[in-house]
Amino acid sequence: MCGIIGYVGKKCTAPILIDGLKRLEYRGYDSAGLAIVSDGRIASEKAVGKVKRMEDAALAQPGFMKLCGCGIAHTRWATHGAPSEVNAHPHFNMDHTIAVVHNGIIENYQDLRRRLEAKGCKFASQTDSEVIAHMISEAYQGDLLAATAAILDQLNGTYGIAVVSSAQPGLIVVARKGSPIVIGLGEGENLVASDVSPLLPHTRQVIYLEDGDIAAITAEKVDLRSVKNVPVEREVAKIDWDAGAAEKGNFAHFMLKEIFEQPESIANAIRGRVDHELGSAILNGMNLSPRELAQITHIVIAGCGSSMHAGLVGEYYFEDIAGISTSVEQAAEFRYRNPIIEPNTLVIPISQSGETADTIAAVREAVQKGAIVTAICNVVGSTIAREAGRGVYLHAGPEISVASTKAFSSQVVMLLLFALRLGRNRRFSRSDGMLLANEIERIPELVREVLAQAPQIEKIAKRYAHNENFFFIGRGCLYPAALEGALKLKEISYIHAEGYHAAELKHGPISLLDEHHPVVALANDIPGKDKIIGNIQECRARRAPVIAVATRGDKQVLEMADAVIEVPPCSRFVAPLPTAVALQLLAYYTAVERGCEVDQPRNLAKSVTVE
Ligand code: G6P
Repeated sequence: MCGIIGYVGKKCTAPILIDGLKRLEYRGYDSAGLAIVSDGRIASEKAVGKVKRMEDAALAQPGFMKLCGCGIAHTRWATHGAPSEVNAHPHFNMDHTIAVVHNGIIENYQDLRRRLEAKGCKFASQTDSEVIAHMISEAYQGDLLAATAAILDQLNGTYGIAVVSSAQPGLIVVARKGSPIVIGLGEGENLVASDVSPLLPHTRQVIYLEDGDIAAITAEKVDLRSVKNVPVEREVAKIDWDAGAAEKGNFAHFMLKEIFEQPESIANAIRGRVDHELGSAILNGMNLSPRELAQITHIVIAGCGSSMHAGLVGEYYFEDIAGISTSVEQAAEFRYRNPIIEPNTLVIPISQSGETADTIAAVREAVQKGAIVTAICNVVGSTIAREAGRGVYLHAGPEISVASTKAFSSQVVMLLLFALRLGRNRRFSRSDGMLLANEIERIPELVREVLAQAPQIEKIAKRYAHNENFFFIGRGCLYPAALEGALKLKEISYIHAEGYHAAELKHGPISLLDEHHPVVALANDIPGKDKIIGNIQECRARRAPVIAVATRGDKQVLEMADAVIEVPPCSRFVAPLPTAVALQLLAYYTAVERGCEVDQPRNLAKSVTVE
């Protein structure tokens, strides 16, 4: 939530910061702002709404785009204080000599603000973040690093901050506790950001700050310390994403691009991980011996949003393939409900970003309860990946669209590989393992076949896009696919959509059905199909239009449903993948038809880094 970019070097600063903010916009788009230190003063611009509005305002300031030196910028997802120009970052001290951008939440800001106001400090905004600028100003005695370090232990909550001062041009100070900061190392220039995507056009060499780190960054040097002012060393990581991976290319939206990338992103998740000889999977990052794997008695999966839905698919896999009892927790509840973690419990946190606050908290709770923790993340070097200590990466490339698509499918594939590995430790035979391994290898092709039907799915979307309520129903491991399909539709098209187990319809929701309330029924030809057929009839009897997802050539469903999206034949384990892709396309074209901002739906942000 919220994005930070900073630059120090010789180039014109505003264009670099604005380009960086555009690449970060998926982290929040309520308002944007930037501050540039030049000629002994801080020039700034802010605007409510998208970065483009702030850019237009900056272009209207004579000479602003030509300022060179160093600067910081921010795109905001409002927590404390409404989205307004005064609440947009950067925030300043009273004489406008210090500017701060902040991600996270300062929980004790009211106490801090009262103390500062009692000393005569005048606040411009309602944000929690502004206290940081005034506190650094109060502590400042000519050394920005020292002043920043001096105030950090008074801040309760989380922060990733970047600070500049007009008294020390060419210097950015950054600090991190709970909210990521990455330093990008360039030639005669350096950058800072809240994640790597805005750094890609400039460098691949990055340093991830750890909690408690603080750094002074100039064009030539990075001085990295602990808050106690002790120099610390951090590894320089190399990012293997190319800059093009974070560009839209010829696609109208990032979401569409990412949907179409799935044959490749899934292939990346599978590559090198299928062991055909043993009918098993190779997941080296798990770092668990066959004996340790055999001792696992229970699995707990924790995640939020689409990652949790992937976990729900995983629950079927682990119980059915590996015979291990599995529960899925909303990460936000995990630590509060004091889960039972026994010595042989395996906890699997799932997170695309690796930065979701609730999932991080779940990891910490699991680690301190002594669980074996192995994470599934996409972003390399992210907090969850590091704190879990072991895990596997999706290698899906950057996911920019707020609505998750390719990360979800890769998470499901990874869980299937994981279940196969655990299954082969237990009751799954070599021949069954070989069959499943072959099925897994087919997934990219199955997805490609669904993508080829995009024009037909678009037509169906257009036909039903005017409705304001949808149900999605499924059974077995297609039940979580129904939940995910409903989430996709509601988050980007603002249609009220609910996912239900097909059998649950009769326990209440069916009373809502009429001719204006379509039902998307996942009627793939897998065990349980006959039951779904019955449920489709029940919906039709209430005049609800039925859009069915069915196995190619299934005449029974074709005759019964008002519209059919065909997916290729496949086993029940693999079925959630082509199905999920079909539903992503349905949601996408519906949102486009309704004129929605597909990549940046209202009120949402990609990385939810606050509770
Ligand atoms: C946000 C995103 C979702 C994502 C969820 C969990 O709500 O909009 O797409 O599924 O966070 O994010 P994570 O990075 O932990 O997978």
